[in-house]
Amino acid sequence: MALFHPFSCLALVFLYTLLSLLVVSHQQPLLDPAERDAVFRVLNSVNPAVSWRTVFPDDDLCSSAPHGVVCDYFSDDDSDVPSSAHITELSFGFVSDYAPNPPCSSDSTIDPTIFTAFNFLRKLFFYKCFTNETRRVSLPADAVSPGFSSALEELVFIDNPALVGPLSTLLRNYTNLRRVVLTGNGVYGEIPEGLGDDSVGLEELTLSRNQLSGPVPSSLSKLKSLRVLDLSHNHFDGYLPEALGNLTELLKLDLTSNGFSGKIPGGLRNLQSLEFLDLSYNRFGNYGLPLFLAEMPKLREVHLSGNPLGGAIPEIWKNLGGVLGIGLSNTGLVGNIPASMGVHLRNLRYLGLDNNSLEGTVPVEFALLGTVSEINLENNNLSGRLPFSAKIGGKLKLGGNPELCVDERLGSGSLGKLKVCTNKPVIPNAALFSASSNPLLAVPHVLVFLGFLVCLGLINS
Ligand SMILES: *[C@@H]1O[C@H](CO)[C@@H](O)[C@H](O)[C@H]1NC(C)=O
Ligand SMILES: *[C@@H]1O[C@H](CO)[C@@H](O)[C@H](O)[C@H]1NC(C)=O
Ligand SMILES: *[C@@H]1O[C@H](CO)[C@@H](O)[C@H](O)[C@H]1NC(C)=O
Ligand SMILES: *[C@@H]1O[C@H](CO)[C@@H](O)[C@H](O)[C@H]1NC(C)=O
Ligand SMILES: *[C@@H]1O[C@H](CO)[C@@H](O)[C@H](O)[C@H]1NC(C)=O
Repeated sequence: MALFHPFSCLALVFLYTLLSLLVVSHQQPLLDPAERDAVFRVLNSVNPAVSWRTVFPDDDLCSSAPHGVVCDYFSDDDSDVPSSAHITELSFGFVSDYAPNPPCSSDSTIDPTIFTAFNFLRKLFFYKCFTNETRRVSLPADAVSPGFSSALEELVFIDNPALVGPLSTLLRNYTNLRRVVLTGNGVYGEIPEGLGDDSVGLEELTLSRNQLSGPVPSSLSKLKSLRVLDLSHNHFDGYLPEALGNLTELLKLDLTSNGFSGKIPGGLRNLQSLEFLDLSYNRFGNYGLPLFLAEMPKLREVHLSGNPLGGAIPEIWKNLGGVLGIGLSNTGLVGNIPASMGVHLRNLRYLGLDNNSLEGTVPVEFALLGTVSEINLENNNLSGRLPFSAKIGGKLKLGGNPELCVDERLGSGSLGKLKVCTNKPVIPNAALFSASSNPLLAVPHVLVFLGFLVCLGLINS
């Protein structure tokens, strides 16, 4: 090599190394070695099959970290120049090609350093990492586990059924917490009393499909920013605190499949932003359908199935024209189906009134439910002529109502199983529906009825 003197070549390499060191150390401080080691320990615990240190040999882990391992640079208070680098997000479990986090292996565990090593951690995410329920991964008891960084904002554990441990190990006094999603894990214990006092900025608390128990502490009502509260599919019980109505930002309240009992608190009427209410399959009982639903105009979904509510269906539908789904299966309802449901629920897609003791006819106004995709009236004691057109007919479930009948020409599809009406049609209001046994004439009647409704609207306005 005549072009370069060996010495000048060496000098060049030295200069380059010095320069790049200067540039790197000026712009990007290195991740603290202890934190770096901890990253590798945690990576090894979730997937020991990958040789992580070989795949990511760079000393500067922050500039070439695995997807899902996120660093941030921090500066001292009086300086814009970053002086340290720390891990702020850890996400494990393959979600999609767009979020290819380190995949968890079938023998993944949790290395305990995850609780202690990351003092700047804002987000922790585990997706389908602990799934083999014969190979349980135990969380430490909260008494021996120090808790995550006080900087924690998001805690997300989704579908890790083999991860078993007390909620109090995961959920501590984190004042910056915004989002908690612990769904489909083996987490047990009670909701900590202090949650409402400390994590006042919490916007989502989803604890569905775990083994949680105990009551809903009324201190939870201090979480004024809460928009989603989902405690469904656990073993919670007791009475719901009246103060839940203080959560006025709430959009979704889902308490399905627990052991809650007593009265559905009237304070819930204050949840004026609520769109989704699901209290199905609890033991709320004997106070009838809550009348305050009439005062919650934003509601889209109301599900109360599987509670012994009892009573007749009240006239609460006037302001609920935006409701898409109503589940009142198996709620001990008696009496007639009110015509007002057919008149006002103009956007209804689903109505479940099955497994009750409803009687009388299906109101003719139900013929107006044009957007419906399923109406389930099975296992009641309904009788008389069905008012539906053949078009809606296919979306009906009517079994277990031996006294229901259908006009001959509509006897196709699921309606075909019903007996054909022998008597003259029973017309509930002669002024609106002139008697006719010809089902083909039913369409003009509906138009007349619609016209009548429009007139009513004009008179009122
Ligand atoms: C689950 O774990 C058990 C016990 O370690 C093991 O025998 C079994 O093969 C595992 N199942 C799967 C699907 O990995
Ligand atoms: C939670 O942390 C805050 C701030 O660090 C503190 O003021 C409060 O007393 C703590 N609450 C509990 C129950 O430890
Ligand atoms: C919360 O609700 C309870 C009961 O409804 C009420 O007495 C209390 O004043 C409310 N608290 C706040 C802070 O709004
Ligand atoms: C309704 O009752 C039938 C027959 O007893 C039962 O098979 C079905 O699961 C019940 N449905 C609901 C929603 O309770
Ligand atoms: C069904 O209604 C009829 C009257 O229409 C009544 O005689 C009968 O006892 C009712 N059956 C049940 C199970 O409620």
